[in-house]
Amino acid sequence: MQKFYGIIWPPRLNIKRGLATTTALLFFLIVAVFVSSFWIDTYKLSISVVNSINKNQEPPSIIIPSNCTTQNYQNQTQNYPIRTIHDLNLSIPRPTCPDYFRWIHEDLKPWKVTGITRDMVERAKPTAHFRLVIVDGKVYLEKYMKSIQTRDVFTIWGILQLLSHYPGRLPDLELMFDCDDQPVVRSRDYERGQPNAAVGPPPLFRYCGDRFTLDIVFPDWSFWGWAEINIKPWEGLLKEIKEGNKKSRWVDREPYAYWKGNPFVAETRQDLLKCNVSDKHDWNARLYVQDWILESQQGFKKSNLASQCTHRYKIYIEGYAWSVSEKHILACDSMTLLVNTRFHDFFTRYLQPVKHYWPIRADDKCKSIKFAVDWGNSHKQKAHEIGKASSDFIQEELKMDYVYDYMFHLLNEYAKLLKFKPMVPENSLAVEISSETMVSMAADGSEKKFMMESLVKSPTTSPCTMPPPYEPKILGDFYRKKLNAIRRVQKWENEYWEIKV
Ligand SMILES: *[C@@H]1O[C@H](CO)[C@@H](O)[C@H](O)[C@H]1NC(C)=O
Ligand SMILES: *[C@@H]1O[C@H](CO)[C@@H](O)[C@H](O)[C@H]1NC(C)=O
Ligand SMILES: *[C@@H]1O[C@H](CO)[C@@H](O)[C@H](O)[C@H]1NC(C)=O
Ligand SMILES: *[C@@H]1O[C@H](CO)[C@@H](O)[C@H](O)[C@H]1NC(C)=O
Repeated sequence: MQKFYGIIWPPRLNIKRGLATTTALLFFLIVAVFVSSFWIDTYKLSISVVNSINKNQEPPSIIIPSNCTTQNYQNQTQNYPIRTIHDLNLSIPRPTCPDYFRWIHEDLKPWKVTGITRDMVERAKPTAHFRLVIVDGKVYLEKYMKSIQTRDVFTIWGILQLLSHYPGRLPDLELMFDCDDQPVVRSRDYERGQPNAAVGPPPLFRYCGDRFTLDIVFPDWSFWGWAEINIKPWEGLLKEIKEGNKKSRWVDREPYAYWKGNPFVAETRQDLLKCNVSDKHDWNARLYVQDWILESQQGFKKSNLASQCTHRYKIYIEGYAWSVSEKHILACDSMTLLVNTRFHDFFTRYLQPVKHYWPIRADDKCKSIKFAVDWGNSHKQKAHEIGKASSDFIQEELKMDYVYDYMFHLLNEYAKLLKFKPMVPENSLAVEISSETMVSMAADGSEKKFMMESLVKSPTTSPCTMPPPYEPKILGDFYRKKLNAIRRVQKWENEYWEIKV
């Protein structure tokens, strides 16, 4: 991996998309000489274990219905008593959903008055990897581009599982999904006075957003598994992490801040590496580069997420955009040191500094980390409470049932806004898909295994009750409180360093 240092990676964050793509392509060619294949992702520069580079460039393979054997799938499903929607008592009142569901209203606000027209949906197409259509409980797919790795496959798989979870309860809809990292629908292009203001923003689903964009955030593919780097489906992984937390008492863990990941996807991560312990200084950070080639050869033994709660503090830092690792890090009951972020996924806006995590300055990371760890080691109980708060939040409010509920409510609220009748696409690109066709087309190995593991086998009672939108004032107060907590920590930090010097 050292070879990658100092080549042409990473592209600067502020260069235009096109240039970044060209740079990335060039980089692809160079590295292809060393290794047979690899892909870039938000998590790290991961090396595919399974296949040659061609796989990534070939046209989609999962969507063509085929006449292959579905024996394996049927074996899995027939052992379960098939409950139907009629067996469920739908009149039992459901508890209110967690507060982060309230951001569904925020994400759909741009279309609250105008609704969503067919024209708006079509304008989301240029960067979309696929269009997904639900009509009468059946799912149709129109695929435009191959996504990075199996992001699209597992996202579509997730939506199919949602339909098994709540059969017959999703309204008809059409949506465009972009599986790339960074949000693209800039809000300023649709402000009053701009040429586009009249036509309204295109509704585009993706995995993360930021303050400057209107993309609609949706749970990422890794909730159903990340086949290429062996990250298991969330439901089982969450249990393993819970067990992992119990392996060592918080006070018995290494009293340092731990991070392991791919520094090559973003400058800010390379900057973080400067804080690693050395002969000259100790910023209380223990940082490691994830070497996916080596780890894949060793069967991913060292990248087992469930056994990574070995330090009292764990650092979360964004990559090229948000990182899938955020939920894994927060799930560990070590205190999360969260380097102040630009991007959010569907649940992170709700998290509060000093309650769920400790904020770290992005522009002065080493001093910030050193202070955080010293503070935690001298306020052990409080630090452990912060670690526990994020771990409890993830275990209870981000369990798979709630992930499905979030998807359900988001799609339901989205569908309410549609001003046109969703239609089965009538062209050669579009096909009907089901869990069965997807399993039969999945690659053997992790891909198929994770699908079987995350397969929803029987329906569930109603989703939780959707909370109302935040009053603008309450939401304003929430953000102010968050900012104040960050400022307070920075003030403590300044005082600490003044005394030190
Ligand atoms: C599927 O395969 C079986 C056995 O090979 C064949 O009889 C059947 O016609 C095929 N079905 C389709 C839709 O191709
Ligand atoms: C499915 O079950 C049948 C009978 O129980 C068995 O013979 C067959 O090997 C199983 N297939 C798979 C793929 O597990
Ligand atoms: C469904 O739940 C409600 C509320 O708990 C109860 O009154 C009703 O009897 C239940 N219906 C059936 C069919 O179990
Ligand atoms: C950080 O320091 C530790 C301890 O010296 C070392 O094992 C590790 O490889 C270093 N990490 C990096 C990214 O250089």
